[in-house]
Amino acid sequence: MTSATAPTRVVVGVGGGIAAYKACEVVRRLRAHDPSWVVTVVPTESALRFVGAATFEALSGNPVATDVWTDVPSVAHVSTGQHADLVVIAPATADLMARAATGRSDDLLTATLLVTRAPVLMAPAMHSEMWSHPATRANVATLRERGVVVVDPASGRLTGSDSGPGRLPDPEHIVALALLEHGRPGSLPQDLAGRTVVVTAGGTREALDPVRFLGNRSSGRQGFAVALVAAARGARVTLIAASTELPVPPGVQLVRVSSTAELAAATAEATRGADALVMAAAVADFRPAEAAAHKIKKEAGRGPEPLALVENPDVLAALSRPGPGRPAVVVGFAAETGEGGTDAEIRTAVLAHGRAKIARKGCDLLVVNRVDGGRAFGAEDNAAVLLSREGDELPVPFGPKTVLAAVLCDAVAARLASRVG
Ligand code: CTP
Repeated sequence: MTSATAPTRVVVGVGGGIAAYKACEVVRRLRAHDPSWVVTVVPTESALRFVGAATFEALSGNPVATDVWTDVPSVAHVSTGQHADLVVIAPATADLMARAATGRSDDLLTATLLVTRAPVLMAPAMHSEMWSHPATRANVATLRERGVVVVDPASGRLTGSDSGPGRLPDPEHIVALALLEHGRPGSLPQDLAGRTVVVTAGGTREALDPVRFLGNRSSGRQGFAVALVAAARGARVTLIAASTELPVPPGVQLVRVSSTAELAAATAEATRGADALVMAAAVADFRPAEAAAHKIKKEAGRGPEPLALVENPDVLAALSRPGPGRPAVVVGFAAETGEGGTDAEIRTAVLAHGRAKIARKGCDLLVVNRVDGGRAFGAEDNAAVLLSREGDELPVPFGPKTVLAAVLCDAVAARLASRVG
């Protein structure tokens, strides 16, 4: 590991699969995240059949080597791993994971994996049959037991005409999870394996006519971050997304909705038998009493008709109600602004609103966000306080939305683990 003043060193290992070209985007994103970081690409010999060393050298700004015989005086097969602060493998092929699981060190990448004590994240890509083969399942289990974060591959079109699980996760998601593991090591244990988690995200839209709607400024990023992290921790995740085009996190089942009515129906359906529900969506409290069948026209000399609104159902309150179908853990989000005053007065008011809301809605946990001054909406970063129905208050400092997601998953996993019956 490096000292406090030394630059952060990231190794991007590239396995020999067609998805090797997407490793270029992983390198680019890591360098864009912090230009002071030193990124070294270590491809396998077969990775270089897909992407040339020159591409990796130009993108990373560093020389590329594959075998342990290059630059022998610098003892690269040991020093690359020793100095790494983070190792990201994309794509991790079945062969590369097999070699890593059995402790082989027959090239620079596997030697680096044996030497490093830094967090290691592997993003697999292969055909579905190879991913589901018992040998690969056993290798993934071994690597996970040893603390390697192995993300599930995404589903979709594979290289041939086939489709299924095996696509390399989106580079955006690979980098987001790698940065989470670097900034907060141990954030991605498999403690939600076997759990079913439903997450809602985005902002609902209430139609005025076929063209217009009443909406809000939610980007969906926080809910997507919760889905990404929960799936990486082993949960079966259904993500109900309202009006957002963000890329689907790997291993997550996406249901697209628009209006509150659609979101309410999809969420009720998905939560049947689920262990946890996380309501990160910004749900419209009101909708037009009637949505016009045709585009509303303005008429010369006449002002607009007043808009009649009716109240939407409260999805969170309804699904928090005690009963046999209630998920064991229900989480709400509250975006609050306070009523002005000093920073401390706003904070106190925001928390008071949060406490009243958790009691009113009947949920177990509530993430309280301050949204005054343009905070939170659409931003990559977020700060919040996590309230529990028992009155606990856990501040989450300003940081990436994946960190808030990890803190939330900690709390959900702990509540599920301590559940009686
Ligand atoms: N929520 C919901 N259904 C609604 C409104 C909100 O499920 N009709 C959920 C949101 O997804 C969020 C939580 O309730 O998890 C709090 O949302 P918020 O808009 O803060 O709640 P409101 O009841 O609208 O409170 P306020 O009086 O502050 O508007």
